[in-house]
Amino acid sequence: MQAANTNYPHKIRSESEYNETYQRSVTDPRGFWAEIADHFHWHRKWDSVLDFNFDEPKIEWFKGAKLNITENCIDRWAKSHPDKVALLWEPNDPSESHRKITYAQLLQEVSNWAKVLKSRGIGKGDRVCLYMPMIPELAFAVLACARIGAIHSVIFGGFSPASIADRVKDASAKAIITADSVMRGAKKIALKDIIDSSLEDCTVEAVIVFNRNKDTVEMKEGRDFWYSELVERLDLTAIEPAEVMDSEDPLFILYTSGSTGKPKGVVHTCGGYMVYTNYSFLNVFQYEFDDVYFCTADIGWITGHSYILYGPLSAGATTLMFEGIPNYPSPSRFWEITDKFKVNQLYTAPTAIRSLMSCGLDQFKGTDLSSLKVLGTVGEPINKEAWEWYFKYVGKEQCPIVDTWWQTETGGILISNLAGITKHKSTYATKPLPGIRPALMNDKGHRHPLSQANLSKANTQKLQGNLVVEFPWPGMIRTVWGDHERCKQTYFSAYPGNYFTGDGCFKDTDQDYRITGRVDDVLNVSGHRIGTAEVENAINACENVIESAVIGYPHPIKGEGIYAYIICQGEVTQSAVNDKIKDIIGPIAKCDKVQLVSGLPKTRSGKIMRRILRKIASGEKSWGDASTLLNPEVVDEIWKNRVV
Ligand code: WTA
Repeated sequence: MQAANTNYPHKIRSESEYNETYQRSVTDPRGFWAEIADHFHWHRKWDSVLDFNFDEPKIEWFKGAKLNITENCIDRWAKSHPDKVALLWEPNDPSESHRKITYAQLLQEVSNWAKVLKSRGIGKGDRVCLYMPMIPELAFAVLACARIGAIHSVIFGGFSPASIADRVKDASAKAIITADSVMRGAKKIALKDIIDSSLEDCTVEAVIVFNRNKDTVEMKEGRDFWYSELVERLDLTAIEPAEVMDSEDPLFILYTSGSTGKPKGVVHTCGGYMVYTNYSFLNVFQYEFDDVYFCTADIGWITGHSYILYGPLSAGATTLMFEGIPNYPSPSRFWEITDKFKVNQLYTAPTAIRSLMSCGLDQFKGTDLSSLKVLGTVGEPINKEAWEWYFKYVGKEQCPIVDTWWQTETGGILISNLAGITKHKSTYATKPLPGIRPALMNDKGHRHPLSQANLSKANTQKLQGNLVVEFPWPGMIRTVWGDHERCKQTYFSAYPGNYFTGDGCFKDTDQDYRITGRVDDVLNVSGHRIGTAEVENAINACENVIESAVIGYPHPIKGEGIYAYIICQGEVTQSAVNDKIKDIIGPIAKCDKVQLVSGLPKTRSGKIMRRILRKIASGEKSWGDASTLLNPEVVDEIWKNRVV
């Protein structure tokens, strides 16, 4: 096995090194990535570094190479540093004990889980959905899937039975891994009951249940199994060997909302994803081998996959997993955890920062935070006030903030400063990582002539446009599960030859990128991506609703709030609407404001004029000329009755 190197030879250590590395990565991308990939453990090396064609799209990295990502994330560290802590775990309830899992223990646990999965007939290529609390067993189970070559699909704990059923069916999952329940703050969520309701509508061969809270739950004979009972029957002495995977075999599916219809199953593959999450983790956070790293995300989202699990573990890091929420039992929780474990890198979301900001400065009383070296943010544009508060009160003006822009589809961070190496700038994600070639498309659908990511060519004007990426990187989406055409349509047709991000962006004269938010009908509510079409479908399923339009508006804590305009016959209440949304999608998509209207502004071709509704929802009266609408009179009525 390739020895693990704790000096991280591919970590960039100065701004000039960043500039040189960037130039090299765009002039010789294949040579650049091959050199990085060389530092992993492969059973067989690749025949070619990269084959691609963005029209189909076909994207193949390290084709012909054989590996298992868990050997890189676990075995090689368990061999060289068996007693190093891989996973730190802090429970929801601070009076419960925390846990420390070393690399040697992680290997054993993942092996046990792998054996349990195999004992239920699960193997390479099978899909397994996970609906679990943020406990170490979730990490074990995810990694166990990867170890045996099963494709994991983690479902966020806030989704409803109907959303779970959609995902389980779309992935044709063979098994589900869940737990009895989870405490989120003071609230209990009965995970197993939710799974039972979701399975009324679809079938799986096995439900494996981990007993987190010692609840009594109903177990369906022949379908449901306690993990503890399955594992008891097995001989656990020998470590379960890792399945040898092709570099382009799928590693996982993660569902994410788009602008139309149902969520898409974004597919990531083994080799490229491993190389990219490792490289971006080390460089953005400037992780050093003895650091303690804490990402507050949930593993149900891509941030948890890439930057709680795969990125850090592939670097032999100590990564902290937190079961609870930022303000339980008090808004000091993140700071107490930081002090307790001497956290060096803290990675969180603007929505968490804003919600803590609103709790006053007493939360810092009695906390020290002097272990912190780097702060990170992800998920949505961070506003100046939140950035400054984070910098001043959390980082004590000593810590660089990495504003990391990326997406479920990109697998890892694409645009960000590198902590302490390249400059941070409030509200700017700043510069592309090596290997990433962003460009801006103007409103005529053409690439801004000055937008290429050539750092030596200074721009003298600000550029604004839609953000695309011109060249593949190893961590990018390969397909949408079961619907390659949708992958092509969504990401590769708007600007042929480019990957389209769905985000708007501008670039200033320092060549720094600032992401301005989605340009499609996707909302970003507390860092969660929610498609307006999904919410509208849920609202339209309410009794008495005829039609609806859902719009995002600026919200002081959530970033975006959800505003629904509804045409109905008879009565419809906000709570009825939100109950329906909770049933169909989950509580994360609940509407903040509901307005009943007699009509929706439409173009002569029948399209809803969302631009006008967006203005009204934001309290702006400047929507311009409405006279070309089919029903201009409705606009004044909507404005008059708007919900403030
Ligand atoms: C937004 C989360 C501004 C963006 C990793 C993107 C951001 C969407 C940032 C992806 C950032 C993420 N600054 N906007 N630093 N990071 N976004 O798939 O609109 O849950 O398209 O991935 O979040 O959300 P997703």
